[in-house]
Order: sequence, then C-alpha cells, then structure tokens
Amino acid sequence: MVSRVIPVDPFDLVIFGGTGDLARRKILPALFRRYLSGQIPQDARIVGVARGDLGRGGFQGMVREAVCDFGQGAADKAALEAFLNAVHYVQIDATGLRGWSDLAEILQGDRVHAFYFSVAPSLFGPLAERIHTHGLAGPNVRIVVEKPFGHDLASARALNATLAEHFDESQIYRIDHYLGKETVQNLMAVRFGNMLFEPLWNSQYVDHIQITVAETVGVGGRGSYYERAGAMRDMMQNHLMQLLCLIAMEPPAKFDPDAVRDEKLKVIRALDPVKPHHIVRGQYEAVTGQESEFPGYREAVGNPRSSTESYVALKAHISNWRWAGTPFYLRTGKRLVARSSVINVMFKETPHSIFGEEAGRHTNVLSIRLQPNEGITLHVTIKEPGPGGMRLLDVPLDMSFAEALGPDGRHPADAYERLIMDVIRGNQTLFMRGDEVEAAWGWTDPVIAGWKARGEVPKPYASGSTGPGDADQLMRRDGRGWRGINP
Ligand code: BG6
Repeated sequence: MVSRVIPVDPFDLVIFGGTGDLARRKILPALFRRYLSGQIPQDARIVGVARGDLGRGGFQGMVREAVCDFGQGAADKAALEAFLNAVHYVQIDATGLRGWSDLAEILQGDRVHAFYFSVAPSLFGPLAERIHTHGLAGPNVRIVVEKPFGHDLASARALNATLAEHFDESQIYRIDHYLGKETVQNLMAVRFGNMLFEPLWNSQYVDHIQITVAETVGVGGRGSYYERAGAMRDMMQNHLMQLLCLIAMEPPAKFDPDAVRDEKLKVIRALDPVKPHHIVRGQYEAVTGQESEFPGYREAVGNPRSSTESYVALKAHISNWRWAGTPFYLRTGKRLVARSSVINVMFKETPHSIFGEEAGRHTNVLSIRLQPNEGITLHVTIKEPGPGGMRLLDVPLDMSFAEALGPDGRHPADAYERLIMDVIRGNQTLFMRGDEVEAAWGWTDPVIAGWKARGEVPKPYASGSTGPGDADQLMRRDGRGWRGINP
C-alpha cells in the first residue's frame, strides 16, 4: 500500500521568521520532503523573510543546512539543489516599512500566496496590517498562524479581532500540529469509517476514556516561554483538547472543514467546569544518578521558586446525551517514563458473567496509539487455551500502521508536511477555527484562575516516573486506574 501523492498547484509561500527555530526544524524540512515526493511543483516559490541581512545566498545556505540536519537533504543532493532554486529571501522588519516592495515584486501572478507567521504573536497584528496596506492581501491569500494562539480568552479574542480586520476567517489557518498527525486523523477514520464502534461509542457502553500525552523531554531551552505557559496552556488547552473533541464529537454530516469544526466546538461547549479536586498539577524534579543526570524543572528554567506545572492530569465531564456519566481522564507531562501518546477507550464489563466469578470479570479496551508505534489495539476476552475448565484471558488484536502499510508505504512522518499542503490546497479541516480556540480558553481560564486564587503549587514528581502520586489517586478514588505509559 503506497501513499498517493497528488501535486498541488504552483504557489508562493512566505515564511515570516524564516531563519527561526521552527522554520529550520520543521517548516523547511517538511517542504523539502514534499518536494522530494513530487507534490510541490518546480515553479513554486518559498520566500524566507527575516530582519537579518542574509541575502538570498545566505538564506539558501541556511536552508541547505536545515534540511540536512532535520530532513533528508543529505540523501539527495541533486534534488536539494533544485529545491534551493525555488528559495528566495527578503529582509523585512515586521514593524517597519522597509523591504515590503521587494516582497511585492517576488510575489506575482494569481497563484496562492500563503503567509506563514512563524513569529511572536505580538507581530501578528503588524504583519497582517502591512500585508494589507502593501496590496498583498488578495483573495488568494492565506495566512498561517502558530500556537500559542493567545495566553487566555481575552488575548485570544484580541488576536482574532486583529486578524479579522484584514482577513476573512476562511483565509486564516491556525495550526495545532497534533491535528496533522496521521493517527489523529485515523481517529476519525476508525470512528466514522466503520460500523463496528460507533453504536458502542457512548456512556451506555463506555466506562471511561483515558487520554495520555507523555513526553520524556524536559523544557529544554524554552524555559522563559514555558514559565508563562505551563502544561495547561502548552498542551491541555490545545493538543489534548483537540484529541478529546475528535474522540467525543458527534459524526459530522460531511468531512468538510466547517462541519467537522462545528461538531468539535459543540464538545468544548458541553464541557463542565473542572472541579478543583479533579485536577492534579506536577513539576518534575532532578535525577542525579550514576547513569543519568537531568536538572529538575526549577533548575532548567532558572527559577528556584517556580510554581509552573510541567504535568497536569484532570477528570473532565461532557454534559450531553452521548457522554453524561462517562468521565474523560486526561494527562500530559514532561520528563515522564516514556514518550507515549495514546487514547484508551475503556468499555464497561458485560452486565452478567455466565462463566461464574472464578472466570474473573473482563473488559474490552480500544487503544489508539498516536506515537510512537502508531496503531490500534483492541483487547478482547477469549478462553484460555487448553483443557481444564473455562478460564478467561485478555488478548490484544493488534494493528501497527507501519506493518499494515508495509515497508514502502511511507506516510508523511511529520504533521507539518500535511498541514502546509492543506494550506496550499485551501482545506481548513485540520486547522482550528477562531471560535474553537476561544471556547477552549474559556474552559481553561477558570482552572488557571482557581490555582492562583487558592495559591496552589504543583506536586513534585521524579523525572522518569509516571507523574505525581496524586494523579493515581484521582483515578483510584473512582475505582479505576491509569493504563501504563509504555513506549
Ligand atoms: C508543542 C509544545 O506544541 O508540542 C511542546 O509546545 C511539546 O512543549 C510538543 O513538547 C509535543 O509535540 P510532539 O509532536 O513531539 O508530541
């Protein structure tokens, strides 16, 4: 099974913040991989924009390095040189006037012009305004904005209002890179492409759902951003919220951007406020051992009194007909025991066991692994083989997508490849609409305000563990337990 590549029409992609970290690590390597696959036409143009006086040659050198370090550049030198021919550079100060006419000169024709704002959110407004005043905001223009989209509801509203002054909502692509992950989209395929699960997908049959996004990395060099964000803003408000929406939403009538986003929005609006005792914050501590040595969170951010959480676990309730009574347990954290993002749909026990108490009680679990080792496992109950009575056993029906697709069936490994191509094609399904982002902040803000009002500090947890013990307690109180965090 080989993934099909459908070339997009010629386009110009302008990357503001073209020399920044995200451009080098993600955007440029993703573009090169799509170029290698034949999806990007020869006459497409990629225009890096930054404040520095790099010149075209300097920027091309930087792109070469980026795709060699983070992409497959080293593997195909000829293709890399051809790709670099499509790369241009313009020196612009986002808040000044210089350079805009140079950009206008490069961008010609009535092709799609995509402006990627890979810059601080404070520059979104000035950039949008200048694109407009320099006559670059035609109907074929799309703008792409990165997270964080605001810091709270008020700032997200202000950003939406600023962008709306110059662009229609249909031109705005708000990135949540989790939506570009292969398995995240597979969630929709599994739910709505099969008859098997949907009839059981409700509180009558599902006991609870667990969503875990565990990372082994710490905050690294992003301390100053992370100190102001914490896991609640950095991961829960966006990535985990999107997963929750896709797992809980009603079937949209069509797989079209607004139909899907309408259904996701309804989920967020049906979320109950989180009760203070249904949420646990944690902060990782240092590891000092013979084999590994990692700084704790406070050392990493250089703030010995930091009360920012690097871990959060919570119980959410969705008040609608489908889900009333089925809790959703969500957790995410840094420096945990393994990198593992998985959704576990935990079905209820059978109403009655015909095999008697000694056979034990068993439940079905549908595990959707987002990363690594993407795939789906359905845990079913069977008879333990052999003579000697009826003993029951849980066995996994396992499907690994890598195996199913076969050695040649590469699917785009990086979410950015898919998302950027969707921008060019004008498909907003995998991008967050303004009202969705605002609703997500509306649910997040009171949680954060509550911590502040109560003066709560995060619970310490050991690096390399599964998080603070209180998170286990959160489940245990309900007679449940987290499934393991396995790589
Ligand atoms: C980013 C967060 O949005 O997602 C990071 O800002 C986090 O803190 C990252 O590490 C996780 O993404 P992925 O694709 O590695 O799971």
